[in-house]
Order: sequence, then structure tokens, then C-alpha cells
Amino acid sequence: MGHSSLRLPPPGQPALRLTGVNHHFGSGDTRTQVLFDNTLEVMPGELVIMSGPSGSGKTTLLTLVGGLRTLQDGDIEVWDPDRGDYARLRGRAEPDLVPVRRRIGFIFQRHNLFDSLTAMQNVRMAQRLGTASEDPDADARRLLTYLLLGDTDLDGRPQKPRTGYKPAALSGGQRQRVAVARALVNRPKLVLADEPTAALDANTGLAVVALLQHLARPRPEAELRALVRPADDGEAGRLGAWQVGLLKEVAAEAGTTSLIVTHDPRIMNLADRIVHMERGRIESNVVVAERLFVRAGLRQSPAFAAILPEEQEKIADQVLVGVHPDRPVRPDHLAAHPGRVEVYEPGAVIVREGDPVDDGSKFYLIRRGTAEVFRGGDRVAELGPGGYFGEVALVLNRPRNATVRAKDRVEVYTVARATFDRFRDVSRPFIDRVLTNFRGPAGPPS
Ligand SMILES: Nc1ncnc2c1ncn2[C@@H]1O[C@H](COP(=O)(O)OP(=O)(O)OP(=O)(O)O)[C@@H](O)[C@H]1O
Ligand SMILES: [Mg+2]
Repeated sequence: MGHSSLRLPPPGQPALRLTGVNHHFGSGDTRTQVLFDNTLEVMPGELVIMSGPSGSGKTTLLTLVGGLRTLQDGDIEVWDPDRGDYARLRGRAEPDLVPVRRRIGFIFQRHNLFDSLTAMQNVRMAQRLGTASEDPDADARRLLTYLLLGDTDLDGRPQKPRTGYKPAALSGGQRQRVAVARALVNRPKLVLADEPTAALDANTGLAVVALLQHLARPRPEAELRALVRPADDGEAGRLGAWQVGLLKEVAAEAGTTSLIVTHDPRIMNLADRIVHMERGRIESNVVVAERLFVRAGLRQSPAFAAILPEEQEKIADQVLVGVHPDRPVRPDHLAAHPGRVEVYEPGAVIVREGDPVDDGSKFYLIRRGTAEVFRGGDRVAELGPGGYFGEVALVLNRPRNATVRAKDRVEVYTVARATFDRFRDVSRPFIDRVLTNFRGPAGPPS
């Protein structure tokens, strides 16, 4: 548990940044490109799940990030909290990669435990010196106990502790848990995990992911208690009540960022960001909270409520910029996703009463900031994050019925008019439903 100053990246900057990463295997005639132009940012404390079919390049990308192989093309920058700067992997070969690896917790399938050492010794040998506590095994024991290798089972009943067993006497899943404990015992700031729960049952899989989540940041008590489910809750796994208390102890130091390759649907919904790879490329990169925010925002609007949920979800995904709605977008995010988010400075008019709609007109969902609504010169309402306006004028092809002006700096998601035209063309009931949902001059700004 280092005494590092725990410096964070500058505000809004990632803990990990990949830029244009390409990779080839082989040489001469057999040289094959397996990674194509991969760009990704991971924010401090994010739990990122990476999915994709076999052979899509997930492990290759992970080993490049971890400095386990030499980066051939593109750039990878890993925030180094000790130096307060990014370590750049570009141009680094073997000896220069070693210090990068030392700061990362790896949980890989071939877990490389030492056969001659017990579970406890395997964890202890990874532990940095410097904690002059009474019981040097305490930290490792708590981790192994939390991972159900101690003297208590899930329900708190006594069981034979396995901390003194050597790998040969442990099951595959038990060895995997020792490897997890070893990877996390130093509370690394970055964890790279390749299918960490593949060999685990639902309960221990959940314990591992809950641990990674908690290392990132403390979770509300209610969220943790929800993981202590009855034994017959089935698929998703559960924690023992005693594990929750221990979890807070073993994961006391927050701020871990993790990148986890998994196909495990049970842990997908614990992710902050979901990255999907296909044929060597990052095909989608979704901040879960942003997706939920936009979906919920669209559902509020009568025009969107009138279309099928699957369509709503598709439209929502088309405006995402990969940034948590708690955080402002940066100019480079806007440039990377043109037409999705617009930024208005205080006082700027977003739509003006009486303006006709045309092909450039849009629907707006407020992402951040506050906007004021004026009708006939009177200030009639204020809209904050999640507030929406503008779609009814688009659907009904009539002038804007209000002026909406940014009160402070306002970020809005925008949906183009053509999106609505699609539904108008296919569905007369769509218009009828919008009309019934939306009547009279007292309605919301459109
Ligand atoms: N050492 C290597 N030499 C040559 N080709 C390799 C090597 N390692 C991986 N590949 C190829 O690179 C591609 C990506 O492999 P990678 O292991 O990154 O896929 P993956 O997404 O992790 O798949 P899985 O889900 O099966 O683990 C595959 O086509 C694979 O055959
Ligand atoms: Mg793999």
C-alpha cells in the first residue's frame, strides 16, 4: 500500500490513452495486421469491460497496454501517479517496459503461480516491502479470505482454509483467485485482466468484480447490500454479508482503473464503459451512464415515446460522445463526433421563437448546464440536464413556439430532423400519437 502522493491526471484527462494503435504479427509474407487504428481513452477509476469475438484482438491490445509486448505503431500513454505525468510506451523496448509493468496489476489466464509456494506465499512475494505491521501476512490473508480461500464459506460457516495449499492442490478456480489476490495486493492504479472470471463460479466471479469496482471508488452501502442476495437468486452470484465488511478493508485505497476482457454477461452491468472489438478494431465505446442518461432523456419526449424502444436505443447510441454526463466535453470529443453535441456559451440562443424549421433543424436534449425558455418575451421555464425541447416543431413542420437560451454554459445532444422524418414516413400513427401527447400552447417548448 504505497505512500505515493496519489496524484491524479489533470481534470478531464484520462488515466490511459491509446492513439492510432496498429499491430502486426509475423514478418515477410506471413506478416498480418491484427490491430487497426485503435483509439481509446479511459478515465481515472473507470471499470472498462472489453468484449468481442475470439481473434478480434482483445488480448493483443491488453498486452500492448501492459507493456508486455513492444508497441509497433501508434501511441499508448499510461498515467504515472508517482511522477505525475504520462508514461509513453511508444519507442520503448524491453528494459524500458519493465518499470511500466511493475505498476500494473495483471490478471491473465496463464496465471504463473509458483508451484513451490503456498497460496499465501504466492501473494506475499508480489507484495512490496515497507508495511511494517505486526502481522505481515494480514493484508494477503484478508484478500484471500475475501476471495473465499480463508476459513469461512460464503454463509460464514467454518471451512478448511486453503491459504497454506500449493497450486497443485488447488482447483483451477482457486488458483485463479490466488492470482487475483496477487495482482491486487499492492493496490495497483491500473489493473489489466483477461477473462478473470472465466474459471470462477458466479459467486467468486462477482466477488472479484465487486473488488475491482470498490478499488475504483467506494460504493454506496445500499449498492453493496444489494449484492448480498438470497442463496437461490441464481445466475448473477452473491456476496456473503461478512464479505461486504471485508471488502471495505481490502479495497480501502480508491482510484484503480481497470480494463477487463470478458464475455461474462453477469459482470457487464457493473461496467462504467463497454468497449467492443471486431476484427482488430474498436467498433463501439460506450460510457454506460451516458447511454442511460440519453435513453432516459429521449423517453421523456412524446415524439420518442411514440417510437419503439429498440429504435429509441439506436437513436440514443447515435448521439453518444463517450463522456460521462457529469463531465464537460472537450473540443476534441466534439471534433471526433461531429453533430452529436453542441456547446452554447451563456446568453447564446439555441432556438428562437417563430423560426421556421428546415433540414438543419434539430431536437435538443440538455446534457449539462441550464437553459431558459421564453415565450412572447416572458421567461416561462428553466431546463436543466435531462430537459429536452424542439422535436414537435420538427415532426409537425411548424415554427418554433419558444426561444431557448443558455443561462450558463450549456451542452446539448442533438438529433437531426431526418431522424424524425424516417418515422413520419413509415408511420401515420406516430404523428397522431405525438399530437395527442402534445396539445395546446401551454405545452413544452418545441
Ligand atoms: N503471437 C502471435 N503470432 C501470430 N498471430 C497471433 C499471435 N497472437 C495472436 N495472433 C493473432 O492475432 C489475432 C488477435 O488475437 P488475440 O489473441 O488478440 O484475440 P482475442 O480477441 O484475445 O481472442 P480470444 O477471445 O480468443 O482470446 C488473432 O487472429 C490471432 O490469431
Ligand atoms: Mg484473448
